Amino acid sequence: MVGTVPAMYPEWLGDRTFTETHNVRFPYIAGEMANGIAGVDFVVAMARAEMLAFFGAAGLSLPRLEHAVDRLRTDLAGRPNWGVNLIHHPADPEMENQVAARLIRGRVPKISLSAFMDVTPAVVRCAASGLRTDPAGRIVRPIALFAKVSRPDLAELFLSPPPAELVRSLVERGELTEDEGRLATRVPIAEDITVEADSGGHTDGRPLVAVLPAVLAMARKRNPGVRVGAAGGLGDPAAVAAAFALGAAYVVTGTVNQMSVEADISDETKVLLAQAGVADVAMAPAADMFELGAKVQVLRRGTMFAAKAARLHRLYTEHSALEEIAAAVRESLEREVFGLPLDEVWKQTEEYWSDRAPAELLRAQSDPKHRMALTFRWYLGNATTWALRGDIGRKADFQLWCGPAAGAFNDWVEGSFLADPRQRTVTQIARNLLQGAAVLTRVHHLRTCGVRFPVEAYNFRPRRLA
Ligand SMILES: Cc1cc2nc3c(=O)[nH]c(=O)nc-3n(C[C@H](O)[C@H](O)[C@H](O)COP(=O)(O)O)c2cc1C
Repeated sequence: MVGTVPAMYPEWLGDRTFTETHNVRFPYIAGEMANGIAGVDFVVAMARAEMLAFFGAAGLSLPRLEHAVDRLRTDLAGRPNWGVNLIHHPADPEMENQVAARLIRGRVPKISLSAFMDVTPAVVRCAASGLRTDPAGRIVRPIALFAKVSRPDLAELFLSPPPAELVRSLVERGELTEDEGRLATRVPIAEDITVEADSGGHTDGRPLVAVLPAVLAMARKRNPGVRVGAAGGLGDPAAVAAAFALGAAYVVTGTVNQMSVEADISDETKVLLAQAGVADVAMAPAADMFELGAKVQVLRRGTMFAAKAARLHRLYTEHSALEEIAAAVRESLEREVFGLPLDEVWKQTEEYWSDRAPAELLRAQSDPKHRMALTFRWYLGNATTWALRGDIGRKADFQLWCGPAAGAFNDWVEGSFLADPRQRTVTQIARNLLQGAAVLTRVHHLRTCGVRFPVEAYNFRPRRLA
């Protein structure tokens, strides 16, 4: 006898208060994916499998959001383990307020906040609406807030109560009651903080091993009752086991779920994603923050999007107006990037913005560089639409947010039932990642007792889990 370790269950890998508080069996969240890629079917499947999922509301119109919330409330009646993403709209605070109002009115039980660099009125309304005390004087929160951050200072912001003056102004405007305002200053904005390391889509690109311990240390000092979860790069059981070993209360996956049956994106893109290796990703300019030079992580293999979008950004930084770009270069852009004459691109751009934000067009009239940015953003925006719809004629332009986790996942599932796209349900992906993480954790414990294992012991094969 060298040593013994007791049985280990995926249910116990994370923080037990996470599963108790959120009424789930597993410490696992399938991450929000914009444009409804994490759609209603996706969230319903996860909630029914006793895990947590957030609807990907970013980029959707208010009517589509309302429709989705109605369906989720009906399909998941009586279940509290689902939520919706509220993404920061720095250029359109009214849209942010409108989304927040819909989520509060729709009695969405959980809201995940993302891309916030500061506390906004919309965040405070979500945090404070419905706060009350129970007969024992404890504060009851009808909406659980999750904040996604990639830096300790931002985590600290959400671990604190909202700024008193912001609360006061919402009370004065009648958007919060006196009681809600009073209670809001006594609780942290969020009690679950997701640390997002290098990931698909918008990312600060920090390694999980550096940033998660830093946020955990800060949270333990500031507010030991809150839970800190891990996201970014989790594509196989070893990565999930490592996140829990670092101290994550729960894990969040994103990229791997885009390949799931339930992900609301074309089958053509799922085939491309299924061929990715860990190095088949690249950084590309982000459509929403193109002018600022912000980047998103995308799939590189099988699509030219990253290279073409980078070319557009380079031209944007080197010129003050479209008219400054040499005729031969313009022609090659029309042929190789836009697939349309630039005049036609501008016509479609005008139609798009005149509906959504006519102020952008006004600005473009007097600012030719802004006009160039809007023209180039036509390509970035459409590249997502072509991928969502599976427009085969524009396959070389698909913009697919994707992190290295896709490659890790593809390597791991090769030769197993999860290699078949039709079997890749979001719940089987989740259950296998967790089961594998539990097995690997146990193997590691035994290894520290001096037990030697053959290499196969480290290779958990996916299996159908009920
Ligand atoms: C296609 C796609 C869309 C995403 N959209 C959003 C979003 O709208 N809001 C958000 O907070 N995170 C979004 N994310 C990030 C995920 O929720 C998750 O935090 C991240 O993907 C985890 O890292 P991973 O990609 O390495 O798994 C998106 C990720 C992907 C791959």
